[in-house]
Amino acid sequence: MKSIHIGTSAPYDVLIERGSLKNSGSLISGVLSSKRAAVITDDTVGSLYSETLMNSLSEAGIRASIFTFSHGEQSKNLSTLGKIYDFLCDEGITRSDFLIALGGGVVGDITGFAAATFLRGIQFVQIPTTLLAQVDSSVGGKTAVDIAGGKNLVGAFKQPALVICDSDTLRTLPDEELACGMAEVIKYGMIRDKALFELVEKHDLSDVHEVMDEIVHTCIDIKRSVVENDEFDKGERMILNFGHTLGHAVEGWHNYTNYTHGMGVAAGMCMITRNFCSAELAARLEKCVEAYKLPTFSEAPMSELLPYCSKDKKCESDSISYIVCEEIGKAEIRKVPVAVFAKLMLEED
Ligand code: NAD
Ligand code: GLY
Repeated sequence: MKSIHIGTSAPYDVLIERGSLKNSGSLISGVLSSKRAAVITDDTVGSLYSETLMNSLSEAGIRASIFTFSHGEQSKNLSTLGKIYDFLCDEGITRSDFLIALGGGVVGDITGFAAATFLRGIQFVQIPTTLLAQVDSSVGGKTAVDIAGGKNLVGAFKQPALVICDSDTLRTLPDEELACGMAEVIKYGMIRDKALFELVEKHDLSDVHEVMDEIVHTCIDIKRSVVENDEFDKGERMILNFGHTLGHAVEGWHNYTNYTHGMGVAAGMCMITRNFCSAELAARLEKCVEAYKLPTFSEAPMSELLPYCSKDKKCESDSISYIVCEEIGKAEIRKVPVAVFAKLMLEED
């Protein structure tokens, strides 16, 4: 089993091993002493993996109750959160007990926020089952729910007590969800690791599972180093948002329907790179993105995307920070007035 230690204010390990879901009870017992837990999952993941998890918890002497909600971003809201709190009360979960998030980023984000706030904070474990959640959302402690005003606008920093990544669970992911995670993997290569980018560009959606363990391990290690340097998102952590400023804008323009986060990030990375970097680099990134069946551009006119960019969480009063990688593996944060960003991006239109 591979293990990555995350040295944040509340430190923890990420364990990476195929088949580890069925040993999760004993892995959790090695870290948390309570024998009482609540598992939070969605209906799709629950039907695939909750039995294995519940059996493993029971074998380790952990009594667990399970709360299941409908899959999808539309469940990551205050209404579902309220139901989770009610469930935890009904089940008598106390401060010394813990939550387990079994699922993708939606389950991880809402469970983490419930753990950050229920009884003013209880422990939680992440068992991410999407590629995006394994390489990104389960590590680093960002938790949130969406409100009418926007995605992830209510949240907290809350590090998990343990993360268990079983890349066998990724075998049941639909191609579209795998591609979504690959957009983040390509991002990690672009911002920090040329060798990772080169590995990814040698594969495509059909055979990337062959190198999945290496990919997951490398990405988590990059996230570790960024988060250890800037746990509370004041500076360097912003590089993780390469492609995201425009990506979120494209997602918003599509009303978050029929357009995944990964598609937005992929198009966003390509748009920024075409605008600020060499034609050679832009073409190389586009080729890699296309191999994972992700878009390299958006049909939305830039003039209609820009209003979404100025609502981005990375905006401070009238300035915006965006990330440029002029070389593969090197990211630069550029902060400019929103009007300057608009002018620069309209040159691409
Ligand atoms: P998701 O959790 O909605 O999962 C995508 C779909 O895949 C769902 O329908 C789910 O039921 C299904 N699924 C999950 N695992 C499966 C499996 N193994 N086999 C088959 N189907 C499976 O979406 P996601 O892409 O994992 O996460 C997106 C969310 O993550 C967004 O809400 C985003 O805001 C958040 N996010 C958070 C952070 C962070 O740092 N906290 C970072 C990036 C994204
Ligand atoms: N996914 C971006 C971050 O964790 O900062």
